[in-house]
Amino acid sequence: MKKRKMNIGLNDKGILRRTLLTISVFFLSLNTFASEPLYKDSSMPVESRIEDLMGRMTLEEKIFQLNQYTLGWNNNENNLGEEVKEIPAEIGSLIYFEEDPELRNLMQKKAMEESRLGIPILFGYDVIHGFRTIYPISLAQACSWNPALVKEACAVAAQESRMSGVDWTFSPMIDVARDPRWGRVSEGYGEDPYLNSVFGVASVEGYQGNNLSDTLSIAACLKHFVGYGASEAGRDYVYTEISPQTLWDTYLPPYEAGINAGAATVMSAFNDISGVPASANPYTLNDILKQKWNFDGFVVSDWAAINQLKEQGYTADNKEGTMRAINAGLDMDMMNHAYDRNLQALLEEGLVTQDVIDEAVRRILRVKFRLGLFENPYTSEVKDRFLRKSSLETASNLAAESMVLLKNDSTKVLPLKNFKKIAVIGPMAKTQKELLGSWNAHGNPEDVISFWEGINKEFGSTHEIRYAEGCDFDSDISNGLSDAMKLADWADIVIMCLGEKNNWSGENASRADIHLPAIQESLAQTISASGKPMVLILTNGRPLALDRIEPFFNAIVEAWQPGVAGGESLAGILSGRINPSGKLAMTFPLTTGQIPIYYNRRKSGRHHQGFYKDISSEPLYPFGHGLSYTDFEYSDIKISSSEIKKSDKVTATVSVKNIGEIPGYETVMWFVSDPFSTITRPVKELKHFEKVNINPGETREFSFEIDPLKDLGFVDNEGNKFVEPGDYYITVNDKRIKLTLTE
Ligand code: GLC
Repeated sequence: MKKRKMNIGLNDKGILRRTLLTISVFFLSLNTFASEPLYKDSSMPVESRIEDLMGRMTLEEKIFQLNQYTLGWNNNENNLGEEVKEIPAEIGSLIYFEEDPELRNLMQKKAMEESRLGIPILFGYDVIHGFRTIYPISLAQACSWNPALVKEACAVAAQESRMSGVDWTFSPMIDVARDPRWGRVSEGYGEDPYLNSVFGVASVEGYQGNNLSDTLSIAACLKHFVGYGASEAGRDYVYTEISPQTLWDTYLPPYEAGINAGAATVMSAFNDISGVPASANPYTLNDILKQKWNFDGFVVSDWAAINQLKEQGYTADNKEGTMRAINAGLDMDMMNHAYDRNLQALLEEGLVTQDVIDEAVRRILRVKFRLGLFENPYTSEVKDRFLRKSSLETASNLAAESMVLLKNDSTKVLPLKNFKKIAVIGPMAKTQKELLGSWNAHGNPEDVISFWEGINKEFGSTHEIRYAEGCDFDSDISNGLSDAMKLADWADIVIMCLGEKNNWSGENASRADIHLPAIQESLAQTISASGKPMVLILTNGRPLALDRIEPFFNAIVEAWQPGVAGGESLAGILSGRINPSGKLAMTFPLTTGQIPIYYNRRKSGRHHQGFYKDISSEPLYPFGHGLSYTDFEYSDIKISSSEIKKSDKVTATVSVKNIGEIPGYETVMWFVSDPFSTITRPVKELKHFEKVNINPGETREFSFEIDPLKDLGFVDNEGNKFVEPGDYYITVNDKRIKLTLTE
């Protein structure tokens, strides 16, 4: 495959650099007689301000810009680090753990007034699904198939963050993940590269707004670059075996989309990528990210990841780790004291060049200038910045649209009608804390509407509702089962709330078995003996193995960890006030033994053989699954031409009719399949989707404009996109049409 030079060649780069330098010299000359240094003049081009400032900085000041420490009380037990006793005024960045801007402003004042050049500090934090108004976890957000709503939620997170002193979030996480034993599947957007791309872009746009210097924008951070979701056997921080082909066709696309959307920063990953750790991988960091994609922001390491290079068997000591990391393109050291303790010596020994250091500093200064921190270094406290009415509405809408109706059998118990006595049973019924999910920033359990509270608010005036805990999350309680059984005997219907604690997923939360705890399964089985209709409400941070309890329930609602509005939205789905519209962004295996199992797998040579001999080879609930209270009928697909040249475009359309009695959102998903290609491809690939509300009896038309290279093409193991002539299939729901490409 002839490699098309995508990146800027040496001569082009040289011309570019000389042009920038000429421009900078020109502006510098204008500034010679100005009262203040050029870098402080916001009317000047950012690149000129950077060059002016670089020319004034000492080596020590440059090295401090490449370091990130912490400020405030670190409540993340996974991130242990050497306590920083005295934070220098010249520090580049701080992870800020406080909820209000007071301490941040104090530290910023020290940077602006006590340092020689007054370079503002960049304050970052893990705002993953909300700052104080906590939204559903990211995996749930992906199940909404509503990027506009996710963008809205990220904009609120940005507003609350920036008003609280945080200028930069370590989000979105866009790691394609296919192993639910890995706890961090909760933090990303599921198993599909396209879906991670779409939601990654929506998040970047929500966080960064139209202008990074806007006082309500924050810098986004694409993480964890790259391939972290392939962690072997779902264990965290471990090795990932990723071929160059799979790196390009599965794990890199969301990052390319995020970079093209203007993401300001990237965080490198903990994992070893087939023998070269991501924190010091010159191919991914320099060749791909900075050269091929022309990324001009900066890369921050993950927590203490540079010194972990030694543990990974890649370097002899921290000094060598520092050398390999910065030479590979890692610009900022998160809480590792690798760069501040080793870079000067490495420079003196000629193992790191001044150019490499300067390039990293430029990138960090560029983000600070673009954020407007030199002009607005301080945060003015706004008292009513949290939980605003509009923010809570967004939370309620996103929670509702992310919940997935997995099962509603022929008894159609949902939405609840004709049941007067409702028993609410289970350890997740009254909890508020667990509904916040992992990485819940400054979320406060008191802000959360529990399922119990939501159900009482929705049904309390018309129904009799009683509660029994039944069991604890993973242990029994005295008389728990018997009390719950008595309540079930009393009730007309049982709503059972089961699931995971919020720290059972997220970082450092791998589970070898994704079934619910035995006591919860036992509770389900015991109560099913009552013979009453049963509805299961799940709150969890990963797909679960439900094979042993699915038969006990007439209906199952996947509520995920829905954030502050969880109970309100769940109750609306139970009553029918809300017609569920969520669709799975990640496959639910039948059981742990099927993992990994995902929809866009490559083809088998014997698709009629090779199945498990002991269990089904089909998942319990596939990618894209999700029921509604109404039904939709799809027409056949129409296409403007069934044969086109590779250079032409073509439009496929399908009509969808709501043949039910109530309005409902339908997500129309367009997949492409290529029966054969010079590089084997997945059985089908998601390439477009639209979610639209359709009224009863109404028919809506959905279209997909197909650009052969973008939508039918594939990528080789060097990242070059190509499209081959031949037959392709376009699939929507159970409809399929052939499209032939000619030269
Ligand atoms: C953690 C996580 C990363 C997070 C960072 C800062 O170890 O891997 O996602 O942003 O440290 O908390």
